[in-house]
Amino acid sequence: MPIIAEIESYKDDLIHWRRDIHAHPELAYEEERTSRLVSELLADWGIKVDRGLGKTGVVGTLSAGTGPSIALRADMDALPMEEANTFDYKSRHVGRMHACGHDGHTAMLLGAARYLAEHGSFTGTVHFVFQPAEEAAGGAKRMLDEGLFSRFPVDAIFGMHNWPGLEAGSFATRPGSLMASLDCFDICITGKGTHGATPQRGVDPIVISSQIIGALQTVVSRNIDPNQSAVISVTKMHAGDAYNVIPPQAYLAGGIRCFNPDIRSFLCRRITEVVEGICSAYGASVEINFLTQAPAVINAPESTALACSVAAELVGKNNIDADITPVMVSEDFSYMLEEKPGCFMFIGNGLGEGGCSIHNPHYDFNDNVLTLGSSYWACLVEEFLRDPVVG
Ligand code: NI
Repeated sequence: MPIIAEIESYKDDLIHWRRDIHAHPELAYEEERTSRLVSELLADWGIKVDRGLGKTGVVGTLSAGTGPSIALRADMDALPMEEANTFDYKSRHVGRMHACGHDGHTAMLLGAARYLAEHGSFTGTVHFVFQPAEEAAGGAKRMLDEGLFSRFPVDAIFGMHNWPGLEAGSFATRPGSLMASLDCFDICITGKGTHGATPQRGVDPIVISSQIIGALQTVVSRNIDPNQSAVISVTKMHAGDAYNVIPPQAYLAGGIRCFNPDIRSFLCRRITEVVEGICSAYGASVEINFLTQAPAVINAPESTALACSVAAELVGKNNIDADITPVMVSEDFSYMLEEKPGCFMFIGNGLGEGGCSIHNPHYDFNDNVLTLGSSYWACLVEEFLRDPVVG
């Protein structure tokens, strides 16, 4: 099965939408222009449009007779970073950039929606879910809390993310755990400030912080089964303003990632014990807060098998890795997979040009995979609604 011919025939439109969205990046819950563009295009093709779920989210619904229902999800938000690219469709907004390819995800889903509305052969319902605020702002959870699946009941949901480093024209995923959970932590240590020359009169939160950072490295290496995967990274430390002052407070923050829910709760508990124990030993007080970002992305086996067979039809069996090594990056599509079976798929963004890593100021989505992504979505819908697999 090659790229769908009708989709190939409007490849230029796909590129145009993608670059237009790229030039006008919008941050979490501010995707007004993008959601308007999406809504207008969906409506043009006769697709029913519901707006405002998750503030700027859009759900398009296309029905043909009575049958099962499937949802496809794309994310729309950009990142708060400065673009370093110089091409003519580079970001027109200072400090905002589509550095994760959500511009491409939105365009690929639009391409599939147009094909299914104009030429689709299926019985049942497809919901096109355009989600806001994927980047650490809880967009998926908010859409669910506001009734995504009660208003738009589905039998399964599928998502897709471009993957730099994976060859263009290939796909990768796996059944079970694909992406890690992420919980962030903030640790505020309060000691007692004093002159740098008289440490005996204070409680030094900088020395305590350094003990904590070292000790946290033992939580994964000494408390977790070596056959399991987890990572704790301290990514922020702030304290002090002067050469000769021991400050009263120090602040640490970072992230915890793993695949297993039991390990996830254990890690939070163990971090608390270690931090409180060290602070207590040194006579400091401490406040620890955990901020849940996303559970692990766990693909349902049957849905994943279907997604892989559709992808293999498009690109050949040799170009689909159906058992990729799980990645420690997180993704809030996991919340949707907690409620419905489904599969999250990686589409290769290429190794070379346009293949530089996501969240990099030089990143760009690879326009050459737009029609492939749209074709995958369209084939998946036609296949699922012909012969639904749930699980
Ligand atoms: Ni992303």
